[in-house]
Amino acid sequence: MTTRWVGTSWKMHKTLAESVTYAQGLVAALRDEPGEYAGVQPFVIPSHTALASVDEALGPARDRPAGLLLGAQDAHWEDAGAWTGEVSVPQVADAGAQVIEIGHSERREHFADSIERTAWKVRAALRHGLMPLLCVGEPDAVQRAGGSREHVLDQARGALDGLSSDELDSVLIAYEPVWAIGEHGRTPHTAEIDGPLQSLQGEFGDRVQAVLYGGSVNAGNAVELLALGTVEGLFVGRAAWSLSGYLELLRLAAD
Ligand code: PGA
Repeated sequence: MTTRWVGTSWKMHKTLAESVTYAQGLVAALRDEPGEYAGVQPFVIPSHTALASVDEALGPARDRPAGLLLGAQDAHWEDAGAWTGEVSVPQVADAGAQVIEIGHSERREHFADSIERTAWKVRAALRHGLMPLLCVGEPDAVQRAGGSREHVLDQARGALDGLSSDELDSVLIAYEPVWAIGEHGRTPHTAEIDGPLQSLQGEFGDRVQAVLYGGSVNAGNAVELLALGTVEGLFVGRAAWSLSGYLELLRLAAD
């Protein structure tokens, strides 16, 4: 049985109460109807402020249905220090995070997360036993110029080269073309994304935990995306911000 990873980042959304309600409903659904979600590896990535509360709402990590994982949207590369406004990997781990999202295009664009910084953050996550979820993806202009494959390989190599095979084994890669992400994003044709996915699979597929696709994923295209031989899971924003939306995607991904 192949495992399909299906996760969601809530980005800068949800109050504590909303986060906890979602988390409680998710655990209940996964526990009540395990057959509906067979073969799926779910993960949720709340805001930093909600991490500890969601961790508590999900219950002890070892007892979570479907091996549900909790993630943080980012963390600094240093363990501690004079970095006002930042949070460290040990801090998000202390709040319950098991996965760290690194290099999302919004971080790269607005918060100067360079390839070098993503490499540092990947190493910080691994140093503390957390799973890095490295996001890579090309902007619109690069895609139009035909440079998608090279762009995502540069980002992935820059962040991952030099890691041991054991370290790579706990890395997730999410291919998320910038032009497909968010409310101004364009829903991709599978032909547009298969090339970069093939490149990532060709170089990293056997060595990392999984290669996921993200960017305008919804209940209408999830099955087609998962049918691509290059896609081992989905990383979802808007379509999974409601619990019912996320559960529907989990069911579509299930065996
Ligand atoms: P979207 O976001 O699903 O809302 O397009 C995806 C992402 O940013 O990971």
